[in-house]
Amino acid sequence: MSLLPDLDAVRARFASLPEIAYFSSGSYGLLADTVRAAYETYLADRVATGADWGNWVGRLEGVRGQVAALYGVDDDEIAITASASAGMNAIASAFDFSGRRAKILVSNFQFPTIAQIWHAQAPAGARIVHIAEADDGTIPLDAFLSAIDDETVVVALSHVCYRHGGKIPDADIRAITAAAHAHGAIVILDCYQSAGAERIDPRALGVDICVGGMLKYLLGSGGIGYLYVRRGLIERMVPRATGWFAQADSGAMDIFANVPHPTARRFEAGTPPVPSLYAAAAGLDIILAIGLDPIGAHIRTLTRIAIDRCAAAGIPVATPTDDAMRGPLLAFPCRDEQALVGRLAADKVITSSRDARLRAGFHLYNDEQDVERLVAALQRHRDLLA
Ligand SMILES: Cc1ncc(COP(=O)(O)O)c(C=O)c1O
Repeated sequence: MSLLPDLDAVRARFASLPEIAYFSSGSYGLLADTVRAAYETYLADRVATGADWGNWVGRLEGVRGQVAALYGVDDDEIAITASASAGMNAIASAFDFSGRRAKILVSNFQFPTIAQIWHAQAPAGARIVHIAEADDGTIPLDAFLSAIDDETVVVALSHVCYRHGGKIPDADIRAITAAAHAHGAIVILDCYQSAGAERIDPRALGVDICVGGMLKYLLGSGGIGYLYVRRGLIERMVPRATGWFAQADSGAMDIFANVPHPTARRFEAGTPPVPSLYAAAAGLDIILAIGLDPIGAHIRTLTRIAIDRCAAAGIPVATPTDDAMRGPLLAFPCRDEQALVGRLAADKVITSSRDARLRAGFHLYNDEQDVERLVAALQRHRDLLA
């Protein structure tokens, strides 16, 4: 259990600290000095050069390499997309649901966009089966294992649930991928609520595809997402959602054929999200320079302190307290979550809410003082807690 050694220096890079205690990283990360400067560089480049395609494409490849480093995979296995949703739509468009193998298992941890994209495949023959949570907010491993069969084509998991912060533990993911592969299905892990907050090793977990974006714990921008697609699977998938940046040769300008790129670039589409690439690169730089293991340890320590302080103060927490079963987000059941978010904001404690819960997302820039401010504010407004 440890906090980042250079925490004061890290915090000094976020202009709004310590004025606010910021816990809304599950919605969007705080703006760091270098991310702000990156947006300014984009504008300066536009003024200086107009449209500089060479520079832009270079930045696209730079971010691809950074995302590959984040996941410990190869650049060729990464697609840079306009959002997590855009990436998932490209993936969904590559399946043929006309045969018997058309069952999609969707965990109820899922963010709506992912579930909606799978439901959108129903007219093409996809059959969606939801995997429900137990009362304690966890999904029992057996709920997945008993649902996976020879008709299953995809198991769609969300690593950390955006509503309550519950996480599918690594051991369960490994068991689910083993069962899925034994039945010829693939596993897709939505990492948007965990990437940047801990190390994720898709190869060790056995997952086939990861999806996410840059706005939250990666400290970057909206308007940009990514996919990891395992080599060996890429070549077998031909997306029907495509575009000129997904072609084997985007410069060929061929209007007579669709020739997908041999790498994960085949899941891209049109002009790269240029301004967002600048910001994403700067955000990823921060995460990669500090390191995923120290960041993960820092967040685990702070969330543990917060859970213990809440237990002592009699404040109920809706997130599993086991270290292996929670991510960077803690949730608190509420009577009126919107009123509580407003009251906390007036106390300069910034949170968000979903589904009758207050959500507090912890990141590398939070310290113990922030935890004290959060717990004290919850105690002050406990009339709004459940
Ligand atoms: C877990 C998760 N998945 C997907 C999304 C949607 O991402 P995008 O808006 O980039 O499609 C979000 C956004 O909050 C999310 O939290």
